[in-house]
Amino acid sequence: MSDFFRGRRLRRNAPMRELVREHDISARHLVMPYFVVETDDAGFRKPITSMPGIFQLSLAELEKDVAEAVALGMRSVILFGIPAAKDYKGSEAYNHDGIVQKAIRRLKERFPDLLVITDVCLCEYTSHGHCGLLRQGDTTGEVHNDPTLTLLAKAAVSHAEAGADIVAPSDMMDGRVLAIREALDANGFSHIPVMSYAVKYASAFYGPFREAAESTPQHGDRKTYQMDPANSREAMREAAADVAEGADFLIVKPAGPYMDIIRMVRDSFDLPVAAYQVSGEYSMIKAAAINDWIDGDKVAMESLTGLRRAGADIIISYLTVEMLRKKLVSA
Ligand code: PBG
Repeated sequence: MSDFFRGRRLRRNAPMRELVREHDISARHLVMPYFVVETDDAGFRKPITSMPGIFQLSLAELEKDVAEAVALGMRSVILFGIPAAKDYKGSEAYNHDGIVQKAIRRLKERFPDLLVITDVCLCEYTSHGHCGLLRQGDTTGEVHNDPTLTLLAKAAVSHAEAGADIVAPSDMMDGRVLAIREALDANGFSHIPVMSYAVKYASAFYGPFREAAESTPQHGDRKTYQMDPANSREAMREAAADVAEGADFLIVKPAGPYMDIIRMVRDSFDLPVAAYQVSGEYSMIKAAAINDWIDGDKVAMESLTGLRRAGADIIISYLTVEMLRKKLVSA
């Protein structure tokens, strides 16, 4: 009889390994982000240079891509809008006929079973690119918290009115989950959940997204509202506050470099936890794969599986459709 552990016994062949596999991913866990552009050109489809395989799309092109993805088994999307015009108070974010509101209506009409999540933020809609209100003429980039809450709440209600299934505030203002919850309830949307970007770091991994969403701050940065990457206890305070304010889901963002935080949030709270594998994480995998430095498909699947192992119930990832198309995740 051997006196050492023979871990290899359970790895002898593929069916054995599958029998003992602890975590996997299927279509139901994944959410695909889309960028929809307000334009008269119905055929508009612009590649995002820093995110190979991802595009800015007109409404009509969005509908085409979503049709293909739904046929492959995609269940959920998160929408980001790029308006034709921006102003200092982000008016298009809460315009009843804004681009995201139109996209929601169009997708829900054509694909009633598709779960439509919307990103609730001002940064794609403000001329200065910040996630909240600045005083007019401001050059310091000091975002005013409480006046911003009213606008975020209006945006969330306009998304719910258009038919969104879930609203996801990503601005990191204090008190926004409560403001949005109250506004939804007051407008007859007590059944619409809030998926809060509870723990969102001031991350350089968002770089490619800002090209995609045309939302780079014109001056300053987001460090007065997004979290310091060096902090983990603070993540617990942020998540606890959002739970107390009525959040139904918690998002940790970015994902890969913050797996410890995903695990902590998973262990400390009973809400479903989503990990957002952000643009820079996607771009790094793609860049190395295009150079043949890594096996892109295998690294992609490993990155997603790692997030499930860390405790993510849900993964928001730009890899979603590609993984479905290649049948690497089951529909
Ligand atoms: C909007 C928002 C951002 C992302 C999601 N929602 C950008 C930011 O905060 O600068 C980033 C997503 C990504 O990088 O994929 N506030």
